[in-house]
Order: sequence, then structure tokens, then C-alpha cells
Amino acid sequence: MKIAVIGAGYVGLVSGACFAEFGHEVTCVDYDESRILRLSKGEIPIYEPGLEAIIKKNTQAGRLIFSTQYTPSVPEADVVFIAVGTPASRRGDGYADLTYVYEAARQMAPFLRDYTVVINKSTVPVGTAAQVKRIISETNPDASFDVASNPEFLREGAAINDFMRPDRIVLGVDSKRAEEVLRAVYRPLYLIETPIVITTIETAELIKYAANAFLATKISFINEVASLCEEIGGNVQDVAKGIGLDGRIGRKFLHAGPGYGGSCFPKDTQALLRIAQENVVAFRIIEATIEVNAAQKARMTRKIRQALGGSEGGKTIAVLGLAFKPETDDVRDSPAITIISKLVEHGALVRAHDPQAMGEAAKLLTGVTFCANAYEACEGADALVLMTEWNEYRALDLDRIKSQLKTPLFIDLRNVYRPAAMRQIGFNYHSVGRATVNGCADEA
Ligand code: NAD
Ligand code: UGA
Repeated sequence: MKIAVIGAGYVGLVSGACFAEFGHEVTCVDYDESRILRLSKGEIPIYEPGLEAIIKKNTQAGRLIFSTQYTPSVPEADVVFIAVGTPASRRGDGYADLTYVYEAARQMAPFLRDYTVVINKSTVPVGTAAQVKRIISETNPDASFDVASNPEFLREGAAINDFMRPDRIVLGVDSKRAEEVLRAVYRPLYLIETPIVITTIETAELIKYAANAFLATKISFINEVASLCEEIGGNVQDVAKGIGLDGRIGRKFLHAGPGYGGSCFPKDTQALLRIAQENVVAFRIIEATIEVNAAQKARMTRKIRQALGGSEGGKTIAVLGLAFKPETDDVRDSPAITIISKLVEHGALVRAHDPQAMGEAAKLLTGVTFCANAYEACEGADALVLMTEWNEYRALDLDRIKSQLKTPLFIDLRNVYRPAAMRQIGFNYHSVGRATVNGCADEA
């Protein structure tokens, strides 16, 4: 099939590359000229494991091309995917900003030829597909098309595997013809028996927000359990295991930490809350999830302050990890950025390292020294804060870290290390939700 993907960001690039890997002929269209120029030269503008190889293979095979133009790909396409950004609105009211989606619809409409299915892959509020349909009809009254919704569930850092081996495909359609076309797009996944959920367009739009909001709620839930553990002398990792082994609950997304971040959970929980409010439905759980997440970041800042003896002013703090999660260079809404900004505001000197995200972080942070590696970051520091659990921070040479630090204070916001072992090495070690009552609750 011939596929045009509008938007060559995380989702557009991964989807385009993977559709090409399925054997389809794909063009990724982005109006960002420098991005397309880099892609055409074989440079990958984002860090996503495995993406470069798959792009290289498929561009060489002639199945994947990049363009700033809607022609000839849109007129020739059987399907056009919209995969542009839907950030939180600049008004700060929680609404999703749909400017890019509507602009993409308006720009591509004149080029539609023959029957085409226009599929929304961006995360959008209920009713957006109907607006896209209206915009295309108004811009090109002769166009023969259907609009469908196919939300994307990939995670950054694991995007290729998530796309090639998804838990499910959700298709929101209002015509049999569009359903057939979409089924054909995903036919290669029949081999691995991927479940397909066919539903109305509006329900598909809601499924995406509900999925992200549910996962965010799981994280806020376990973060509150962690706070309780610190008070009662419990171990949040044991609680997570103890409840997660119940198949109805599941073990995933029960890692306590500095709060969820990234380009999606924060904006999507806010957007779902807005959708509920507009429809006069009280979605109190989402409200609480959002509040708990903000409180968690503030609590982690206080944890660092308290460990430093009550004030971070004039103290040097080494920070490991800036990305909102490992295996990405994305720092959008990263808890590390929020926490570092607060520490710097209160007079701390921050020495930071991240394997991939220092370039992006430098655009948002001031007064931070970026270091070549974890050990350099620790040089002369009063404390070390492990903010993002990159693999290379899981097996640090702890004796070397200790000798680099001025004071052996280690604040592990991702519970990577074992408290008892850390204390044995001589660290004043703090983590999240692993209290030390009778010296045994933190041994897990
Ligand atoms: P992104 O910001 O990384 O990329 C969007 C791209 O679209 C940019 O390169 C931009 O230049 C381009 N663009 C915008 N308007 C355009 C237009 N009219 N014509 C051509 N190109 C245009 O965004 P993203 O992270 O890929 O997210 C895209 C959507 O997918 C969002 O709705 C997001 O919520 C959703 N989503 C993202 C992820 C993720 O992991 N990032 C996962 C699932 C769903
Ligand atoms: C998330 C969803 O997992 C994807 O299914 C979805 O497609 C995507 O949002 C999206 O809509 O964009 P992503 O943001 O890439 O994916 O990353 P996650 O792995 O979900 O992590 C999100 C945040 O939650 C990170 O800050 C992470 O550190 C945090 N987290 C995650 C925890 O604090 N604890 C956990 O147990 C899991």
C-alpha cells in the first residue's frame, strides 16, 4: 500500500519506518526543512534505539522517503496518517492544542485524489476526527475520503518493539471501506495475532486518553504508597510486588519515583480532565493523579533539601539523568528539569550528566554544568541525585563515586540500589518509599 505520514516526529518517524518495514511504500512529510534535510542524508533527528537501522534499511530499499511537500505522496496515497504534535495549549488551561492537526488537514486536503482514508494517529480530544472531516470537505469539496482514528500506544525508548509487536491495535471507523483499508495496513501483524479493537471514532479517541490516564494513575498511586511506606517503615518495592503479582493488578507501572513526566502523560491527563469537565463529568481520580504528580516532584525536592541538612543554597549537587526516562533524549516535562530548576533557584550548583539528553536539557536549564560522565559530575559534590535510571547508572563504580564526592550523600530517586549495600559502602543513602525500620525493611 502507499502511505503518507504527515509529521516526522517520534510517532511519525517510527510509524513510517515500521510501515515500510512491513513492506508498504511510505513517505514521511514534515514542514520542518532542516529535519527533512537531515533525514534525507541519513541522520536521525531523535535518539530512539533501533530506529536508525530500520530507516537505513528501508530508505535503501526505496520503500521510505522523506519530503517537505505533500505531492506526489498524498495524491498517490491509499492512506494518509496525521502524526503531528498535540501539545498542551499555550493558554495553560489543559486543553490540547489542535492547531497542527487542523493545519495538516487543511494543507493536505487539496492534494487528495481518488478514495483515501485519512487516519488520525495523534492523540486528540473526542470530536477531533469530525472536525478534520469538516475541514477536508470544506477545503476540497470533491475529495473522496473517510476519516478514521488509530491512536498510537508506543513508548519512547521502546518504540520500535512497541510498534512491531503491539498489545493491540485500536481502529475507530465509521465506514466498512475505511475498516478494510486499515486492516490491510496492519495485515502483517495478523501473523503474530495482534488483537484488533474496532470501535467508533469517538470511542477510539477516548481509549487513547483513558489508557494514558490509567497508567499515570497507577504511578501516582504507587508514589503515594511510597510516602506511606516512609512513614510506617515499609518497602514500596515489596508492596508493588505483593500487589502486582495479582494478575488483576499487574506488575508494570508500579515503580515509585520522582513522578511521571514526558511529552504525553502530563498533557494527556490534563486534556482528559478538560474533556470530562466540558461534558460535566466529575473525573476526580484524574484530578487527584495530576495533583499527586505535582506534589511528588515537590516532595522529591524537599527530600534532597532535607538530606543536605535543610538547605541546598551554596551546595554542589551532582545529578545523573535528565531525560524523563531512560533510552530517550526527550526532556519534555522531565521531573529532572523541574527539580533541578528548583534547586538552582534556591542557590544550588548543579553538575549534571545524561547519556543522550544534555543537548536538549541545555535549552531549558541555566546555571548547570554539564559533565562528560557520572564520575566527573560527582567531583567535589556535596550530594549525588540519581534522577533517571539509565543502564549505565545501574552498575556505577561506587567506590570511585564515593571518592569523587565531597560528602558521601547518595539520593536515589529511582530505587536502583540496595539500601543495606549502599550503607555498607559508607554512603548516607536515601531512596523512595524504602524506610529503614529495624534495619530490615529495606533489604529487598
Ligand atoms: P513531535 O513534536 O515529536 O513531532 C511532530 C512533527 O510534526 C514535528 O516534526 C513537526 O514539524 C511536524 N508537523 C507539525 N505540523 C505539520 C504539518 N502541518 N505538516 C507537516 N509536518 C508537521 O510529536 P510526537 O511526539 O511524535 O507526537 C505526535 C502525536 O502522537 C501527539 O499527539 C502525541 O501525543 C502522540 N503520541 C506520542 C507518543 C510519543 O511517544 N512521543 C506516543 C504515542 C502518541
Ligand atoms: C507513554 C505510554 O506508556 C505509551 O503507551 C504512550 O503511547 C505514550 O505515553 C504517549 O502517549 O506518548 P512514554 O511517555 O514514552 O509512554 O513513557 P513511559 O514509559 O510510559 O513513562 C512515562 C513516565 O512515567 C516516565 O517519566 C517514567 O519515568 C514514569 N514511570 C513509568 C514511573 O515513574 N513509574 C513507572 O512504573 C513507569
